[in-house]
Amino acid sequence: MTNSLLTAFSLPTPIQSLTGSWQSRYPVFMKREELRDPELGGNKWCKLMGHIEAARRHGHDHLLSVGGAWSNHLHALALAGRRFGFATTGLVRGHEVMTETLADAANAGMRLHFIPRNAYRQRHTVEGLSGLTMAYGRAWIIPEGGEGRHGAAGVTHLAAEIESQLSGQVILAVPVGSGTTMAGLVAALPSRFQVWGFQAFNDASLATRLAAQLPSNHQGAGWRLYPTEAMRTHHQLPEKLMLFMQKFEQEQGIALDPIYTVRMLSALDQLLAVADIPDNSTILALHTGGLQGRRGHGLALAA
Ligand SMILES: Cc1ncc(COP(=O)(O)O)c(C=O)c1O
Repeated sequence: MTNSLLTAFSLPTPIQSLTGSWQSRYPVFMKREELRDPELGGNKWCKLMGHIEAARRHGHDHLLSVGGAWSNHLHALALAGRRFGFATTGLVRGHEVMTETLADAANAGMRLHFIPRNAYRQRHTVEGLSGLTMAYGRAWIIPEGGEGRHGAAGVTHLAAEIESQLSGQVILAVPVGSGTTMAGLVAALPSRFQVWGFQAFNDASLATRLAAQLPSNHQGAGWRLYPTEAMRTHHQLPEKLMLFMQKFEQEQGIALDPIYTVRMLSALDQLLAVADIPDNSTILALHTGGLQGRRGHGLALAA
């Protein structure tokens, strides 16, 4: 990664001990990645930096991607484009709406186009995505959520930082959407790490796609995927999870996003009640940011 991009994100984020019931079975820590940057904190900076670096290398000055009306990814892409000197285009799923997320993106200079849902479904294949995007000019196309090898390459910087901050055996709990962040971490971390991924959504092909993103001779960190209770509710925040989130925020003073980190923490909490973990392991939960999405659930930006 070019220095000018990386130096913008070079200060390590803190690792903080969680308090109260989070200390009763095993000590649990949180990597406060959401504090990395007010606009691009969480897992966004590393996934996007991998893509931005690749776009620059290939001589592009226009970034294009796809997402929903409350997409953390489109929001971060618009702000990253403004900061690093790229034009940006966002293809938004569904009929025209102006959410706070999209208003921020438009204010940062992103051109928005609304795509009917049946056409948007083509985004999953390379051909489908380029068919969907070809009408919008020559642009570096970033798959939904910053997925793909460039996204995972950016995550190596986060992995290196975590590795330097903790010694010994570590269980790293990570929320999983596309699996790009998790794949990047598993690929880059050594074997003293176990990465536990918590599926935010119901996706039967995830394990296969994750394995496909790892080198065939992978000998580093081990990994496991766990379901989460709300993963069949798409982007909803069921009442039980909302109560869990409120309790966590009150106890810890840490705001959560309403989809990813909260689903992971709730499942991790249940898992730790039954798991048998060696005493010398450190359990580290990764906060992947996404706080702007709180507004889609009527929540204030801060807890
Ligand atoms: C806040 C947040 N956390 C976690 C994820 C999941 O990351 P990945 O798609 O790399 O699995 C996303 C989606 O990009 C996200 O917006």
